Amino acid sequence: MNTKIKNILNKKNKSKILCLTAYSKNFAELVDKYVDITLIGDSLGSVLYNYDTTKKVTLTNMIDHSKSVRLGVKKSLMVVDMPFNTYRSNLSAYKNAKRVIKETKCDAVKLEGGKKIITQIKYLIKKKIPVMGHLGLLPQSAKGKFKSKGKSTRETKQLIKDALLLQSSGVFAIVIECVKAATAKKITQSLKIPTIGIGSSVHCDGQVLVTDDLIGLNSTKIRFVKKFINIKKYINIGLKKFSKDVKLKKYPTKKHSY
Ligand code: KIV
Repeated sequence: MNTKIKNILNKKNKSKILCLTAYSKNFAELVDKYVDITLIGDSLGSVLYNYDTTKKVTLTNMIDHSKSVRLGVKKSLMVVDMPFNTYRSNLSAYKNAKRVIKETKCDAVKLEGGKKIITQIKYLIKKKIPVMGHLGLLPQSAKGKFKSKGKSTRETKQLIKDALLLQSSGVFAIVIECVKAATAKKITQSLKIPTIGIGSSVHCDGQVLVTDDLIGLNSTKIRFVKKFINIKKYINIGLKKFSKDVKLKKYPTKKHSY
């Protein structure tokens, strides 16, 4: 087993697992220092391309951004989201995941869903492709407004069942998105593998966020996002100074000219 994956598994019940998204080399360099997992999420569709759904993200989008991220990731586990429609059968899942791993040199792929895609997940793992699961709110299959999951007893039971199924199929961790705190706690306590929460309470073994959201580069009103810094403020200061200096002919000086 990949030693980075082993280290992540060993963190269960010991220390929190950190995961953040990156879509390019410069962000990957920044994020890599702080996280166990760098995720090239298909959230890049909405964050970078303004898509109203991640269903529009292509395999080429994911591969191109992941290649850039690869240049900045030195120590963390690099996980790439398999986009919508790329894992409908065992063979398409394998062909596409193999391509992602070969071209991006990532360590693992992430697939959204439980029972419905379990044969594809088992097939990838049999073919030695490490897989991270994703349960709860599944943006690739969501219709209409995003809603939290695990509210009813039936939904909670199904989520636990799916989580156990993913675990027995060999996934090394599961992202739990927008799941009610009590349900996220039950799932986490039922598993030997770690859960990585997003909008799913402190009870998960780790946390993941979209980096652009937490630094305030992407404007979002999603309840679970905490803006840890307003980076736009600092970018604006730099851009304003540049603009002023150019207009006043203070830049470029002799020092900046050939
Ligand atoms: O696409 C993504 O960035 C994700 C995370 C939000 C978990 O799947």
